[in-house]
Parts: sequence; C-alpha cells; structure tokens
Amino acid sequence: MSQQTLLNNLNKQMLACTQCALRKTCNQVVPGEGSANAEIMFIGEGPGKKEDELGRPFVGSAGKFLNELLASINLKREDIYIANTVKCRPPNNRDPLPEEKKICWHWLEKQLAIIQPKIIIPLGRHSLELFIPNAKISEAHGRAFRKPFPPLKQITIFPSYHPAAALYNGSLRKTLLEDFKKIPKVLELICKIS
Ligand code: URA
Ligand code: SF4
Repeated sequence: MSQQTLLNNLNKQMLACTQCALRKTCNQVVPGEGSANAEIMFIGEGPGKKEDELGRPFVGSAGKFLNELLASINLKREDIYIANTVKCRPPNNRDPLPEEKKICWHWLEKQLAIIQPKIIIPLGRHSLELFIPNAKISEAHGRAFRKPFPPLKQITIFPSYHPAAALYNGSLRKTLLEDFKKIPKVLELICKIS
C-alpha cells in the first residue's frame, strides 16, 4: 500500500477518535496535512480556533507566519507534513494537558511510522517535550539532535520556537528565520550520513 493510502486510512480512523475529553468541546479532529512522503515533518501544539473551524492545521495567523518561514527556504506546504501533538482543539486555546498529549500520542507515532520523515521539527515547548523530555526550547532551538526512535531507526530532531511566539515577541521573528535557514543544510547532512 502506498504511503498516501496508509495515511488516508489513518486519517479516517483519527477523524472518528473520541479517546480523550478534547473531542467533547471541539468541532472536529484536525489530523494534519501535507506530503505523505515528506522529508520534513513539523509538529505544532494543537489546533486553534481557525484550525478547528476548517479542519486544517496552521491556517490562522501562526500558519501565515509558518508559510512565510517555509517560503524563506523555498518550501511550500505541499513539500512538507504538518501535524500537532493533539489533534483536537483545547477549549479557549488552553495548553493541552499532559494526559491529553499522552492519549493522543499514538496517532502521531502512526503518522511518523508512515511518513518516515528525515527531520522532525517540534514547534514550541509542548511539542519539544514529546521528543526530548526536559529540554528547554530556549537552548534547544536551531540545533539538531539525533536519537533512536522506535519504530523508526535514528531520527533527527530540530526544535524551533512556535511561530505564534513571534507574533507576540518581535525579536523571535529573526531567530525563527535564522533557525529555518539551517534546515536545508541539516537535511543535506542527514542525506550524506544515512
Ligand atoms: N498552532 C498550533 O500549534 N497548531 C496549529 O495547527 C495552529 C496553531
Ligand atoms: Fe482523539 Fe487526540 Fe482528539 Fe483526543 S485529541 S479525541 S486522542 S484525536
């Protein structure tokens, strides 16, 4: 079966998920979108108001900045994959609870197993915590980490601040642009060693 077919099947299952309480207050599940064989996979925190309305990730103001960041390194949304740590919108945009992230994690694991990205880019501390527990986003952003990650072999994690953070803090905008500039180089290096 192709990666696209596997992903379509997974999305259908996700859309019907009611495993945690977030599904009681959201409009719909937002599984993620992009290329089924993307080399780069971005992982945000959770759907916001607009994402919950449209059923698509990063379509609000943070999404607009993410599109700019991608364009700055000649990438389009179709070239990459974007998902979130939880697929349903936390009420009033509160942080997802550890319990909710834990329950939803298996969907992300399944997405990763199908897409098999070369680089995982956690956006912000909530996403980072899932991949490198106890790491601080202020120290880990813009650096590449390699670690074993079953069911994948070695994965490369390249943490970034969340694009929404730059909407409230102008200086982070520059940091995000600088960190994104490194992505093509990191990808090139991984291709050489694997
Ligand atoms: N912020 C996120 O973390 N994810 C989205 O999908 C949108 C905004
Ligand atoms: Fe299911 Fe995840 Fe939505 Fe909870 S947040 S209902 S686990 S898809």
